[in-house]
Amino acid sequence: MLGPAGRVILISGANRGIGRAIAEALYDAGYTLSLGVRDPASTGAMTAGWASERHLTARFDAEDQSTHRAWVAATVERFGRIDGLVNNAGLALRVTVEDEKDDVLDRMWAINVKAPLSMIRLALPHLRRCGAGRIVNVASIAGKAVYNNNVGYAMTKFAAVALSHATRRAGWSDGVRCTALCPGFVATDMTADVTTFPHEQMMAPSDIAEVVLTLLRLSNNASIAELVVNCRDDVVF
Ligand SMILES: NC(=O)c1ccc[n+]([C@@H]2O[C@H](COP(=O)([O-])OP(=O)(O)OC[C@H]3O[C@@H](n4cnc5c(N)ncnc54)[C@H](OP(=O)(O)O)[C@@H]3O)[C@@H](O)[C@H]2O)c1
Repeated sequence: MLGPAGRVILISGANRGIGRAIAEALYDAGYTLSLGVRDPASTGAMTAGWASERHLTARFDAEDQSTHRAWVAATVERFGRIDGLVNNAGLALRVTVEDEKDDVLDRMWAINVKAPLSMIRLALPHLRRCGAGRIVNVASIAGKAVYNNNVGYAMTKFAAVALSHATRRAGWSDGVRCTALCPGFVATDMTADVTTFPHEQMMAPSDIAEVVLTLLRLSNNASIAELVVNCRDDVVF
């Protein structure tokens, strides 16, 4: 198993929800973190007691690629390396087959698919260099099966799963391992208005953080390509 000491992990959308839980768990485990968020002040309360040499917060707007480049450059300048990338930031809006909401669909593509791809492209040279780079794309169970009429979100998450497999293959020979993490309902702001499933039966964000910790620890010879995490008896194809 790989230890956390000296390993530098980027996490997008680390200020709330699943991203924040991942950041807290990884910091507690001993990783060095580079947090990418739209509003850098939004991680202040979380990082207040953290050792300054083990974290950095940078501006990351999924819809602005110049912030992707600046975030990766700031991370390398500060820590000299990148060992892992958690593409977590995401947006869930509703677009059905018959909606003509291309602007909404374009936003979800930009945030849920094109931004993770852009971050992977920027991080890959550094992940290859360390010999045991790790990428976790927080996709969704909505990227494995179509459960409702929100085809827009499902299409982006199916694409995120495809991106994960392509990335795993692209980086394999240099020790880069990539996982499509596909949770069902997690109790965050994103699911606050869900009425079809009880909130108290949803996963906690800390459950997902625990899974990410394991993915980061596994050796190069134990790669998990896809991981579905359920809170109910979903059918997964
Ligand atoms: N909750 C679930 O049931 C569930 C299940 C499966 C997968 N997921 C996936 O898990 C990931 C995290 O979801 P969550 O439940 O933690 O959602 P959340 O509580 O709504 O948090 C979303 C995060 O994404 C960030 N974000 C959104 N748009 C952004 C943009 N344009 N640029 C940069 N950051 C942006 C948000 O930043 P701001 O604070 O600036 O808005 C926030 O940090 C998403 O990819 C989501 O699709 C969630």
